[in-house]
Amino acid sequence: MTKKTAKILIFDSGVGGLSVYKEIQAQLPQLDYLYIFDNEAYPYGELDHDTLIARVDTIVSSLVAQHQIDLVVIACNTASTIVLPTLRAKLSVPVVGVVPAIKPASNLANKAVGLIATPATITRPYTHDLIRDFSQSKPVELLGSTRLVDIAEEKLRGKAVDLEELKNILAPMESKIDVAVLGCTHFPLIREEIQAVLTNHVQLVDSGEAIARRVKDLLVIEADAETQGKREIYSSAPPWEEGALNQALYLLGFSPVQYYPIEI
Ligand code: DGL
Repeated sequence: MTKKTAKILIFDSGVGGLSVYKEIQAQLPQLDYLYIFDNEAYPYGELDHDTLIARVDTIVSSLVAQHQIDLVVIACNTASTIVLPTLRAKLSVPVVGVVPAIKPASNLANKAVGLIATPATITRPYTHDLIRDFSQSKPVELLGSTRLVDIAEEKLRGKAVDLEELKNILAPMESKIDVAVLGCTHFPLIREEIQAVLTNHVQLVDSGEAIARRVKDLLVIEADAETQGKREIYSSAPPWEEGALNQALYLLGFSPVQYYPIEI
């Protein structure tokens, strides 16, 4: 009898969720993965609250209904900090969110924590509750930047990262911190470049591995780890030239991006 393979839906506004996919699939290669990114409404860090919730709700609910999804990962901090209660109330499958790793970062820090995220994430009450609850003894410096998110989108499309530009963006917090939280799933995709700019005096922390462990705990895995599951990827943005991105996706096991039109 063929063993059932669990199917995971991974959602983000763009390619950032691929950093989370990489962590999950490294531990669970045998699962089927469906990745959807809402590039039509990107960047989420500048989207209003109600539009964001409506879009994530519509996209995730319809895909869960159409495909036999066993678990959803909202691989986007900007979305997770507001949309999880709506999705969990509606869906019968587990919904795992990604939120800034303030607690481990605060435990590691001697001086101060830097939270690098989208302009929306650094203003969310959810984020400020995390800081209040888990970083009482260490100050947290906030840096919100959409340009950093764009840099990661561009890198996956073959454009070299300009380290001078990165240095200018990170300059306001550089000397104040000894640990930085990559509070946007796009940022692990430019981790080496961020590390080079912040130097080894700053330790980088992200949520990817913890999310992979959480997914593993929530699923009953039947298929063997030697077999590789299916990987499909969809974008809400109307089709356009994505040759360079498709090459990067191929290396991650995906076939070319398919169009998934959204009607809100
Ligand atoms: N990847 C997303 C996050 O983790 C958001 C990027 C954006 O669309 O602004 O916050």
